[in-house]
Amino acid sequence: MAIYNLKINGKTQEIDVAPDTPVLWVLRDHAKLTGTKYGCGIGQCGACTIHIDGTAMRSCSLPVSSVGDKAITTIEGLSEAGDHPLQEAWVEHDVPQCGYCQAGQIMNAASLLKNNPSPSDADIDAAMNGNICRCGTYLRIKSAIKTASQKMG
Ligand code: FES
Ligand code: FES
Repeated sequence: MAIYNLKINGKTQEIDVAPDTPVLWVLRDHAKLTGTKYGCGIGQCGACTIHIDGTAMRSCSLPVSSVGDKAITTIEGLSEAGDHPLQEAWVEHDVPQCGYCQAGQIMNAASLLKNNPSPSDADIDAAMNGNICRCGTYLRIKSAIKTASQKMG
């Protein structure tokens, strides 16, 4: 075990875990932030997507020892009031069905818009390609990203 002082959603938290513990486990089991979901555990579905210093990463495949003093942001920290333009657009377009993949979808989309505020359809497809939705909400996700992009622009 080792002690890590992790910056999670703007607060520093001391976590005592084995160095190879995936960040997803740290978030859900230690920090009690359960918005980030476990899907595949092998970096293939995107359900566990968080931001590390603003860039989308798969937390299931990220050992806690690799984070250092970088800022971790989860869906709970994307916007304090839950009013990030993407979250509002998700409501407007009634995107979720079962909802399981959606935190990861929103975090991935937020990273996309941060780097590319006016993405084309092809840009959205390329960026969101690795985020799987078994309910097939892809068209509404795309519409919501476009709406958020317009609002942010
Ligand atoms: S749970 Fe991390 S990519 Fe699927
Ligand atoms: S809304 Fe059910 S998996 Fe995406």
